Amino acid sequence: MKNIIEWKVPAVVVGMGIAGLFAALRFAQEGEVLVLGKGQLEDSNSQHAQGGIAVVWDFEDHISFHFEDTLIAGAGLCDPEAVRVLVEEGPERVSELIALGMEFDHCGDQLCLTVEGAHSHRRILHAGGDATGRKIVQTLSERVRQNPRIKIVENFLASDLIAANSKICGINGWLKDLTPVRIVSNRILLATGGFAGIFPETTNPLGATGDGIVMAWEAGAAISDLEFIQFHPTALSIPGQARFLISEAVRGEGAFLVDENGYRFMQEYHPKCELAPRDVVTRGILSHQRKTNGKPVFLDARHLGEEFLKKRFPGINEHLNKLGLNLGTDRIPVGPASHYTMGGIHTDTHGKTSIGGLYAAGECASAGIHGANRLASNSLLESLVFSYRAAESMLKYNSIQNSDMAENEHSWELPQQFEYEVLQKMAAENLGPVRDSENLKRISDIFREKLRGKYNLPAFALLPDTLAQRNLNALTGLTAILAESRKESRGGHFRTDIPAPDPKWKCRQKIQGTEILQVQLDN
Ligand code: SIN
Repeated sequence: MKNIIEWKVPAVVVGMGIAGLFAALRFAQEGEVLVLGKGQLEDSNSQHAQGGIAVVWDFEDHISFHFEDTLIAGAGLCDPEAVRVLVEEGPERVSELIALGMEFDHCGDQLCLTVEGAHSHRRILHAGGDATGRKIVQTLSERVRQNPRIKIVENFLASDLIAANSKICGINGWLKDLTPVRIVSNRILLATGGFAGIFPETTNPLGATGDGIVMAWEAGAAISDLEFIQFHPTALSIPGQARFLISEAVRGEGAFLVDENGYRFMQEYHPKCELAPRDVVTRGILSHQRKTNGKPVFLDARHLGEEFLKKRFPGINEHLNKLGLNLGTDRIPVGPASHYTMGGIHTDTHGKTSIGGLYAAGECASAGIHGANRLASNSLLESLVFSYRAAESMLKYNSIQNSDMAENEHSWELPQQFEYEVLQKMAAENLGPVRDSENLKRISDIFREKLRGKYNLPAFALLPDTLAQRNLNALTGLTAILAESRKESRGGHFRTDIPAPDPKWKCRQKIQGTEILQVQLDN
């Protein structure tokens, strides 16, 4: 191993998605910050977000409607205070984004607003038709590059956090040339994304391995709500092809879900049909496929007109065209794919985790906004609102350097790891949109044993090519343990043996090490 390089910095943001970049810009108004990314700027998962950003923007809409819609989609497990912050502060953050140069699509002299599943009003702003995430990342990246107070290190693979006495002291990781780096800092914000990549059929890119969540868990932080995984109902479903996302906004504009005979089966499952919450649509598709011996289902947008669809969804159309399909003239085969992980590092509404000086925002965080099922397009808004708040908390945090850099000098061995393919199969068979008690028990038993040692390895014990595997092993295990523990069905967690919600389970589950704590909600 090369010699370890040490950098001392006042504050670190890990992650170059929307949450990380927006936080860095807010922090840089008052201080200097280092931004680390495992890829390159403009290369994060955020840039795949097609649909848009949900925000109250129209006089016919109201924050109380957005609040209610979020709570209903969350199936009783949202933290109402966190949701209140989201919907109330959202419009101001979006205005700031526009002031930074973001251009949303216009309809005449107004911003266009679309609708997606479980929204009672049109409130989704979009850009470039279906390129909202990419356009926001471009806007923020440009600003970050121009900012002399922000230093960027790309291709940095974070490996573990250094904490002592429940306070953060730094972070270790690897540069692209395999130089090990120790960054000493007592203010660290994790904005590292989710872990939907544990499933083989996913709308996420390869990097969605929940790195920050595992690092925080290993350092002793509380993690919550991992059992709630959102499956997007309409990922392109062609054998041998990646599960490319076909935005919910296509249904928002009026596309139907049909079977081979053109039957709109969602009317059997929910009064809102195709625009029911995502977990309902996902299970509706799976149930209809069971009834029809696994026959494919399709998204049918043809009645919306080829010209309109080409203009409104240029990215989706371009992708489909390469496969010989056209949104305007063909029915598109679709099916559920893992899309978003509601749980993550437990935070308060200021992005604070249970470790002093450690903050989390974006998909890797669990502030209680999404409950058991995220409302479509709330995540980009969450990224803005809560990364901004986390940056403000970091600015206020007492920055006296924590000199106790005591490291984990012990001799834990890494428990045997499952290979990526084995893990993905395990996740698909046991942790998908429909779960059952026997499988949950079996898989959680396997991992409960493995995770007991918390993988608490000395710094730099794992080389970069094994880090993703460690992360996915830990997250599959933690998800299995929390899913087995929750004896009910709710939102993104559905089990055939107990197919209904149970009021006794109106609680969030936190896990620290392998200890589970149930936190009752009184709303
Ligand atoms: C979509 O465009 O359907 C995805 C947007 C989201 O997940 O919120």
